[in-house]
Amino acid sequence: MRIARALLALAAVAVVIAAAALFWLSRPVSVAAEDLPGHQPDPANGEFVFWASGCASCHIAPGSDQRTLLAGGVELETPYGVFRAPNISPDPEHGIGGWSMAQFVSAVKYGTAPDGHHYYPAFPYASYHKMRVEDVMDLKAFLDTLEPSDNDVAGNVLSFPYNIRRGLGLWKLRYLSEDPVVEDLPDDPAVRHGQYLVEAMGHCGECHTARDGAGGMLPSIWLAGAPNPEGEGMVPNITPHPQGLADWSEGDIAYALETGLTPEFDSLGGSMAEVVRNQSRLADDDRRAIAAYLKAIPARTPEDR
Ligand code: HEC
Ligand code: HEC
Repeated sequence: MRIARALLALAAVAVVIAAAALFWLSRPVSVAAEDLPGHQPDPANGEFVFWASGCASCHIAPGSDQRTLLAGGVELETPYGVFRAPNISPDPEHGIGGWSMAQFVSAVKYGTAPDGHHYYPAFPYASYHKMRVEDVMDLKAFLDTLEPSDNDVAGNVLSFPYNIRRGLGLWKLRYLSEDPVVEDLPDDPAVRHGQYLVEAMGHCGECHTARDGAGGMLPSIWLAGAPNPEGEGMVPNITPHPQGLADWSEGDIAYALETGLTPEFDSLGGSMAEVVRNQSRLADDDRRAIAAYLKAIPARTPEDR
């Protein structure tokens, strides 16, 4: 009897310790000003980062063609509810004009808000986590030069339990990594540059890679195609598999990213049209590098999982 009670007490202590550990593990990670490298932010490189990482796709006003007015309001429908991309223009009240560099880096690389809450990974920081901190600093210097907007964006509409942000800390612990996704690549500077543009900035995997049950991208079938979050069909396979881009030359891929036209002269639509509007602002060499990387990664299909 006494043993049973002692065991029960022990179990209760274990539960408390486990809960405390989970609470500690799920705490939001922020960067402090003194953790930042001594780097003079360069808005010209920041503009390149802005187009390469596609912030405008979500943060311009819905239907707007002013790609540098980051008024917010685009709605992202997901199985968890509706996310609304906030105003990230330099307006100090409605946007992020009042933010410090450290707050901005914490948001983009760690998904952590200035008040310490976790952002949802609908904001693709799982990819941006792989970005060099200097590039993120340059990006802020560029965003600071843009036009402010006083647009008020309504909050997200999420169902229980997805409206509890704390649990996202465990998600981040599992899925945030600065390591490259594809390890075995030819040691070619174009392929390496393409890897950075695709895996980190371009966040191509967020749409083109299928996810596990907890919403993490599956590295074993990286870029092999995924169910379309917009509803119908699949986001295509862009590995060099016959079901993917095997028949496309590097030139075909670079041309599609520039013009939105496939080798069959179909035009790329849906959410890819937005991606092309950003990628078309890059230099030819950048789009070529993306193509070189896409031709160098393992050929896979979703069945290879
Ligand atoms: C796929 C859509 C998408 C893309 C692309 C995207 N974001 Fe966001 N972003 C969001 C969503 C959705 C949120 C809100 C997340 C939440 O409520 O937890 C957000 C939140 C933010 C916030 C927090 C704003 C605030 O007021 O708290 C910042 C800063 C931000 N994004 C910057 C960027 C930058 C910079 C880029 C490009 C490098 C970018 N985002 C690309 C969807 C996106
Ligand atoms: C927001 C989601 C999204 C992101 C991010 C995204 N794509 Fe796509 N992509 C799509 C969709 C959807 C299609 C299908 C478009 C269509 O068929 O009209 C597509 C089509 C393509 C195609 C044509 C494939 C074919 O067989 O026709 C290529 C190539 C491509 N994407 C490359 C990329 C690259 C490179 C990136 C990163 C820079 C990227 N995509 C990022 C959604 C996305």
